[in-house]
Amino acid sequence: MSELFTGIGELLTNDPGRPRIIDAALVVDGGTIAWVGERAQAPTADRHTFLQGRAMLPGWVDSHTHLVFAGDRSAEFEARMAGESYAAGGIGVTTTATRAASDDTLAALLGDRVREAVAGGTTYLETKTGYGLSVEQEQRAARLAAKAVDEVTYLGAHLVPRGPDGEPVDADEYVDLVCGPMLEAVRPYVRWADVFCEDGAFTPEQSRRVLEAARDAGLGLRVHGNQLGRSGGVELAVEMGAASVDHVNHVDEADVEALAGSDVVATVLPACDLSTRAPLAPARRLLDAGATVAIASNCNPGTSYTSSMNFCVGTAVLQMGMTVIEAVRAATWGGARALRREVGTDDRPAVGSVQVGARADLHVLDAPAAIHLAYRPGMPLTWGVWRAGQQVVA
Ligand code: NIG
Repeated sequence: MSELFTGIGELLTNDPGRPRIIDAALVVDGGTIAWVGERAQAPTADRHTFLQGRAMLPGWVDSHTHLVFAGDRSAEFEARMAGESYAAGGIGVTTTATRAASDDTLAALLGDRVREAVAGGTTYLETKTGYGLSVEQEQRAARLAAKAVDEVTYLGAHLVPRGPDGEPVDADEYVDLVCGPMLEAVRPYVRWADVFCEDGAFTPEQSRRVLEAARDAGLGLRVHGNQLGRSGGVELAVEMGAASVDHVNHVDEADVEALAGSDVVATVLPACDLSTRAPLAPARRLLDAGATVAIASNCNPGTSYTSSMNFCVGTAVLQMGMTVIEAVRAATWGGARALRREVGTDDRPAVGSVQVGARADLHVLDAPAAIHLAYRPGMPLTWGVWRAGQQVVA
């Protein structure tokens, strides 16, 4: 059954030829977009939904989250707000709590987080393992995630865990495990592998080993890079042809040029930058240099406990010098590009844009224009969400 939407006050499409249509209309048929244009030219359809001048955007594509976890780290956050700085070691606290949770508990926590993300307009979602850090626990996280989200990333290389004596295990031996039995155990459930290339986590050499093993196993590559310092993560992501390097808070001119000259998406994480009081990732500089920028929530218990892409996009406009069209594009098409899903294939439509043939993932705001995301920060602006043409939030 086809459905015609009219009364769209502002439609952002991500179509470079026509990024914004005022007084727009749209037809959805069979889960994909069949027609986009001005209301005056709209064809008829089986059903009609009138949106009373509200803005419509592509559903958010959140390309970086860590949703498989248990436990609470609000005390760590409170201490940070009182002047402590973020350190990778906190990952171990969540690992202990996550390992102790039953499958049912972990699946329920994950399900709640996915529902929260969808309620906020997210229609395509990636999440990572990385709070298990043993063969069995990483496999469990990957298995649970594969049931709950669209894309799963293996992040066994999140932190070198502690052994039974409480001391960190030998880092190179742990990398052997990550590249061998752990990779094999998660392989059926994941499309991507990631590594936290940073002081206190994995060196560029260890990170390269992880990425090479993952590539040899047929996985796509992602990197957590340059979050706490110039970690070498950007260079490594470019060298290895990763799909995305995420965080990019500490980059120099050479890093920016390398990203601009590559196919690696620079994923910025505005909520994480605020929560860790990090220098904001230089989204404006990256865009001006010609790099592809994505915005993601990085929802996780340590550095960014929010899946609100509305908040991330508002912050990118308010604090990172992005225009609203750039920020919405980065949080939709950019996220899809970071997951290599911005172009459709024979068996799956593109996500991240409102163009003919793309999956009908639509986010309607209770506002006449997308700029309200920054103009009215923190307000509950998500009015309706459609995923593959089905309304999932009313
Ligand atoms: O992307 N940086 C590494 N991983 C997460 C933080 C994880 C944690 O502290 O629990 C991030 O910010």
